[in-house]
Amino acid sequence: MGAYLIKGGARLLGEVDVAGSKNAALAIMSAVVLAEGTTILHNVPNVSDTKTKAKLLEVFGAKVQWVEGSLIIDCTHLHDGEADEEMVRSIRTSFYLLGPLVSRIGFVTLPAPGGCKIGARPVDLHVKGLRALGADLDLSDGRYTVRANQLVGTEIYLDVPSAGATQHLMATATLAKGITVIQNAAVEPEVTALADFLNRMGAKVEGAGTSTISIQGVSRLEACGYTIPTDRLQAGTYLLAGAITGGDVTVRGIIPENQAAVINKLREIGADVAEGPDWLRVKSDGGLKGVRIKTMPYPGFPTDMQQPMAALLTVCEGMSVVEETIYESRIGHVQELNRMGASILQEGRTTIITGSSKLKGASVTASDLRAGAALVLAGLVAEGETVVKNIHFIDRGYDNLEGTLVSLGGDIKRISSQEKRTKVGDTVH
Ligand code: UD1
Repeated sequence: MGAYLIKGGARLLGEVDVAGSKNAALAIMSAVVLAEGTTILHNVPNVSDTKTKAKLLEVFGAKVQWVEGSLIIDCTHLHDGEADEEMVRSIRTSFYLLGPLVSRIGFVTLPAPGGCKIGARPVDLHVKGLRALGADLDLSDGRYTVRANQLVGTEIYLDVPSAGATQHLMATATLAKGITVIQNAAVEPEVTALADFLNRMGAKVEGAGTSTISIQGVSRLEACGYTIPTDRLQAGTYLLAGAITGGDVTVRGIIPENQAAVINKLREIGADVAEGPDWLRVKSDGGLKGVRIKTMPYPGFPTDMQQPMAALLTVCEGMSVVEETIYESRIGHVQELNRMGASILQEGRTTIITGSSKLKGASVTASDLRAGAALVLAGLVAEGETVVKNIHFIDRGYDNLEGTLVSLGGDIKRISSQEKRTKVGDTVH
């Protein structure tokens, strides 16, 4: 497995175009199976999760073709398939295929899902919702088997506003008979993107972006073309990269209002943030101050930005307190940042960061996607060389992270396992 070699110290300067949203693309790639015919998705991010998802679609009979940044998916002939357990477990959204597939072909089997190891990540809300819609669902030997003749619209209340469950059940309900109402729905922009896509296919979804979504079932959907919106989490990471390096970074092609929580915290720590209709610019010349952060469902501070933000807070003056309320174990960055000279205490779901650390390059290991992003940010500002190992996690959700950072003046390169061993003195097995 490869690694990143980062030489810290360069101020990042310049503008970047942000790639398509991984989370929106993955949710939409589940919904494409609802329509016969060929869907064309543009601006699909070139990340390993979308590639895995495309392979999974092929298992169920879809014909998939990548043409530059677009994905052409023909779902005319679908069938049940034997999905490889490792493939399914490697991405959380494999599970979101169950409902749409069963609506189309009546019977599906799929191993239970996985994703980054950041907490228990139950799927109870998905299961309850599918059953409420009339699906017959069984779990044995780690595989779900789902059957349904005709799903029927119903009322679904989500105990927590889960983005995944909202997307999965909203998509599934489009072909159910009658009206489905989802209460306490997630209001994430990726939910709204999926609703836009479904409506473009001919679905009747109303209220996406609010906590009550209603779906009037239709008898069939038509394949269509759709452009995946840009990724607010990649954009946020580049803004933090600008701030942590005392730089001046502009992200383009984004929706600034989707970044309100991150912008707010960047301003609170003392960075200068300017915004236009589809861009954000962050400037900093040091002197940043610690803050309190609590992750919340959208529009609160995103859990996905919690670990990258923690990296930034290690170099801010004073104390910061970061409370993670969504995932109990999104803490893989803590130990590794401390190895680079940070001073972070972990108390359950809360991290207490004593700032003003002069980070020093070290060999560190990414434990999950956003922990990996946090370590890269730390490496950009650390004195000397940092090697970030396990970057396959970063490849799950960042489209050409190193290319983007290099274009801003960062000194980061991908190195092979062999080079990594030489750099960090690992044993060669
Ligand atoms: C999605 C995103 C992930 C992001 C998260 C929260 C994708 C591929 N991933 O994950 O990057 O961090 O939203 O914004 O889009 N829960 C239950 N039961 C369920 C489902 C969820 O209790 O059946 C809980 C989870 O444990 C978690 C909370 O709901 O505490 C939010 O999870 P959810 O919004 O579903 O996250 P994902 O869709 O998995």
